[in-house]
Amino acid sequence: KPIVLSGCQPSGQLSIGNYIGALRQWVNMQDTHDCRFMLVDLHAITVRQDPVALREATLDGLALYMACGLDPEKSVIFVQSHVPEHAQLAWILNCYTQMGELNRMTQFKDKSDRHANNINAGLFTYPALMAADILLYQANEVPVGNDQKQHLELARDVATRFNNIYGDVFTIPDPFIPEVGARVMSLQDPTKKMSKSDDNVNNFIGLLEDPKVITKKLKRAVTDSDEQARIYFDTEEKPGVSNLLSILSAATGRTIADLVPDYEDKMYGHLKGDTAAAVVAMLEPVQQRYHELRNNRDYLNQVMAKGADAASEHAAQTLRKVYDVIGFVPRP
Ligand code: TYM
Repeated sequence: KPIVLSGCQPSGQLSIGNYIGALRQWVNMQDTHDCRFMLVDLHAITVRQDPVALREATLDGLALYMACGLDPEKSVIFVQSHVPEHAQLAWILNCYTQMGELNRMTQFKDKSDRHANNINAGLFTYPALMAADILLYQANEVPVGNDQKQHLELARDVATRFNNIYGDVFTIPDPFIPEVGARVMSLQDPTKKMSKSDDNVNNFIGLLEDPKVITKKLKRAVTDSDEQARIYFDTEEKPGVSNLLSILSAATGRTIADLVPDYEDKMYGHLKGDTAAAVVAMLEPVQQRYHELRNNRDYLNQVMAKGADAASEHAAQTLRKVYDVIGFVPRP
């Protein structure tokens, strides 16, 4: 089976962007792929996190992963900081990644604009840690949203460079990006990506939000103010409407081409109402399962322990090989 690895940052409540762009694909890959899914707490601290909130968000994320359908019997589910090989390989890959490459990363530019008072070295070398995450497990496929594509290309470049020097050490990973929902946009500014750490809570929908709040946010979503309030898919001309159509498509499983004729002579309000109902229906079973799981700390601990053991075993093998080819003397 092809090896899969992916993860989310526990830097806030997971959003429908994370679900539609990534998690939903993960759930579907579990039977056909050899999967590893993690919560990347090492990545999360590239932006200042409150310790209590970080710990809660990590446990919430773990419970949510399973509530969304990740199954610890099928997939390895773990917390990144529990597997020290991630930080160890990241250091090494830092030494094979060029400043110029990191400088071109659009996420670094965005985040250093947003967090101008804390442009730390970790934020800059974030993609090297992400490459380590992927390469440690020799992953073949990495299911992510569109915003991670550039990071993945860097991981491929670094792996290729390393292999060219030392021989076939790393598998070169391919991105796996969904056709619909790879970039769920902000509800108030549909030219920006929806982000769980957005300052304006009306821009995103958290997976754990109350159905009433979800409905209100979607009804208030910015639509497009052209003369004729027609409903069709065009991300340039109609970013707001197209975003709602994408969310509706993801939530109902119907294609956009199939949905659009239904709205031929309807108003924006209809589309918003239907999208809200579909998102609420999609999240209802997830929320129900989440609460049961989140209250069972013993079970969460068991899953984390088993996941970390399985992940470490695989990761240690790759790291040993890397240390060897580089020329480190083995610890006697
Ligand atoms: P993060 O935590 O920002 O997002 C987790 C996943 O959700 C996807 N995503 C979206 N998809 C569609 N529309 C959106 N608005 C949206 N927002 C987020 C992301 O593309 C991602 O797939 N660097 C990563 C985490 C990471 C990782 C890895 C991923 C660390 N190591 C190794 C894959 C492999 C990140 O910040 O994701």
